Amino acid sequence: MPSLQEQIQVLEQEINAFSPTDAAGLEQYRIRFLGTKGLVKQLATEMKNVPPEGRKEAGMLLNGFKNLAEARYEEFAATLSAGAANTNAIDISLPGTPLAAGTRHPLRMVENQMVGIFEKIGFSVATGPEIEDDWHNFTSLNMPEHHTARDMQDTFYVAQNPDWVLRTHTSSVQARILETTPLPVRVICPGRVYRNETISARAHCFFHQCEGLYVDKGVSFADLKQTLYYFVTEMFGPDTKVRFRPSYFPFTEPSAEMDISCTVCGGSGCNLCKHSGWVEILGCGMVHPNMLRNFGIDPEVYTGFAFGMGVERITQIKFQVNDLRLYSQNDVRFLRQFQGL
Ligand code: DAH
Repeated sequence: MPSLQEQIQVLEQEINAFSPTDAAGLEQYRIRFLGTKGLVKQLATEMKNVPPEGRKEAGMLLNGFKNLAEARYEEFAATLSAGAANTNAIDISLPGTPLAAGTRHPLRMVENQMVGIFEKIGFSVATGPEIEDDWHNFTSLNMPEHHTARDMQDTFYVAQNPDWVLRTHTSSVQARILETTPLPVRVICPGRVYRNETISARAHCFFHQCEGLYVDKGVSFADLKQTLYYFVTEMFGPDTKVRFRPSYFPFTEPSAEMDISCTVCGGSGCNLCKHSGWVEILGCGMVHPNMLRNFGIDPEVYTGFAFGMGVERITQIKFQVNDLRLYSQNDVRFLRQFQGL
């Protein structure tokens, strides 16, 4: 039988060669060397077989072995847990932390769609300032001072200059285009407008419109009707019907309002169409000769049509949003519903 010293030498070699790769390996090591029936305990029981004169030396050997076994155990455990931490830090198989990306606002989605529909038939986008002067917002649009039509639009005036207003409609961009662009012109003008309204489910102090203008030689009301009919079928589907009702706008003559057959009930009657089967979506008409003259255009040579619609209104019909305030509250529960559309 090998001596205690020889046995310990062999076991120390084993310990030094040992390198656990996981928690189970470490536990096996603990049981083999440090457990209640482990080698340290077993060798201690063999002390009784050592002759008394060798006991001191044997005791020191055994103690050294025990210390080695324990110290290596601590080392192994520390290496393993550090390794575990490291591995977690670079675990490339874990899914990444999601980036909180926003979604496109429903109004912007609808506006983009409108613009895309008109671009397909040769309209280009034009924009203008939101702080506008009286000439471009009113006077040039055949609404001179004291014209009653100004009262139709509750205007915000800019305190520094009585001539400045927050534009009440995107028709002001029509004026700027006629002023600066050589004919023919065919533009679509999306943008934000302001009116002094009390905020409620049905009214807001700012909202969005999309204006259209086409001026050329020989433009007729039939062109207007066909253009708008094309727009409606692209926006709401080929089965949508349209109807025109005579109306009044100072900057168009004749003027009309256009309704579409209700996209929710198909005409049988619901809340959206107030049980009429029709929903109004825009105002339009042939550009008033006075307006053309205001920009030095001869109405005997050129004619044109114009139309203006509310982006909120179209969005409301498309997505059945029943409260205008939702568009500007930035509530993600509302906005998320349009994700991926
Ligand atoms: N500017 C009008 C409004 O704000 C809408 C409108 C009606 C625009 C008829 C037009 C038009 O270009 O021809 O209510």
